[in-house]
Amino acid sequence: MIDPQELTRRAEQLLAEATSLDELHGVQVELLGKRSALVEARSALGKLDSSERPAAGRLLQQARQEIEEMLAQRRAALEQEERRGRLGVDRLDLSEVPPGPTRGTVHLIQRTRDELEDVFVGMGFVVAEGPEVETDWYNFEALNMPPAHPARGMWDTLYLDLGEPETVLLRTHTSPVQIRLMQEQGPPIYAVMPGRCYRRDTPDARHIPIFHQIEGLVVDRGISFAELAGTIETFTTAYFGPDIHSRLRPSYFPFTEPSAEFEVTCTICKGKGCRTCSQTGWIELGGCGMVDPAVFAALGIDSEDWTGFAFGFGIDRLAQMRHVIPDMRIFYENDIRFLRQI
Ligand code: PHE
Repeated sequence: MIDPQELTRRAEQLLAEATSLDELHGVQVELLGKRSALVEARSALGKLDSSERPAAGRLLQQARQEIEEMLAQRRAALEQEERRGRLGVDRLDLSEVPPGPTRGTVHLIQRTRDELEDVFVGMGFVVAEGPEVETDWYNFEALNMPPAHPARGMWDTLYLDLGEPETVLLRTHTSPVQIRLMQEQGPPIYAVMPGRCYRRDTPDARHIPIFHQIEGLVVDRGISFAELAGTIETFTTAYFGPDIHSRLRPSYFPFTEPSAEFEVTCTICKGKGCRTCSQTGWIELGGCGMVDPAVFAALGIDSEDWTGFAFGFGIDRLAQMRHVIPDMRIFYENDIRFLRQI
C-alpha cells in the first residue's frame, strides 16, 4: 500500500518543478490521471481487509484533495507569471515618456565668430553686417575692379541669374561691406564685419565653397601701416595666445595699397610642413592693406584728409588653426561626435 503522505510529498515536489502551464499539464496527468499512483492506490484498497479500508480510503481522499488544491495554486501562479511575461513582450506602453530634447551646442564656427567679435569689440571696433547676395558693383567695381579686370580672377565667383539687368552674385568676400559702411556713414570708422561668403572652390582640407570671413575697416586721420600691423599683432596674440607667430607677406589686392597676406604658423604641424598647409609650414588666414585712394575717391572720401586700413580673415581657418583641426570639411559633416566636443 502506497503511503498517502508520500503521494502528497511527491506531488509537492513535481508541482514545484513545473515551470510552465504545459509542464503543469503533464504533472497533472501524472498525479491524478488514470495511471497515477493515486488511482493505483485506490484500486489497491480492494485488497485491504474490510476493517482497514474506510480509514485508508479517507486518507487517500484527503491526499487527492490536497494534491488538487496544490495543483490549483500552482496553476494560478504559473498563469499569472505567463501573463506578466506576455505583457512585457507585446505591451504597447502608452505611458512611455520620451527623453526630453537634448541640449545642442553652438557650432564651432559660430562660437569662433562670437569670440572674434568679442576680441575686436574689446579693441574698440563696432560690429556691422551686409547682405550675402551682392551686386557686381559692391563686390568688385567699387573695390577698384572694373568689369573684365583680371584681378576678378582671384575669386571664383558664383553668379545668380535673377533676371535683373545688374549682375548679381553670392559675395566672394566680406569686403563689399566696407563699401556699404563708407557709403552709409562717413569716417571715422572702426568696424568689423563678419559673415558668410561663397566661392566656386573644390572642397579640400582648407577650402569650403561656403565659408566665413571677418572684415575689418579703420578710416581716420593719420592711420598708417604701423596701426594695421599693430592691430593684427594684437589680435593674433589675443586670439591664439603668445605661442603662435604671424607674419605679413607682401601681396596684391586691387582695393588696398600696399597689400599683404596674413599668415600664422600651421598649428597642425607646428610649422614643419604637412598636408593641411601644403608643406609650407604657414597657413594664410587672410589679406590686408591700406585702403586704396581709388576706393576712397569712388565714395567721395578725400584721401588727402583720411587714410585707413582693411583686413579680411577666414573665420573657418582661424577656428581650424586655433583648435588644430587637420581637415576643415568636418565643420559641415554634422558628425555629432565632433559637434559635441565644443
Ligand atoms: N577680401 C580679400 C579676400 O577675400 C581679403 C582682404 C580684405 C584683403 C581686406 C585686403 C583687405 O581675399
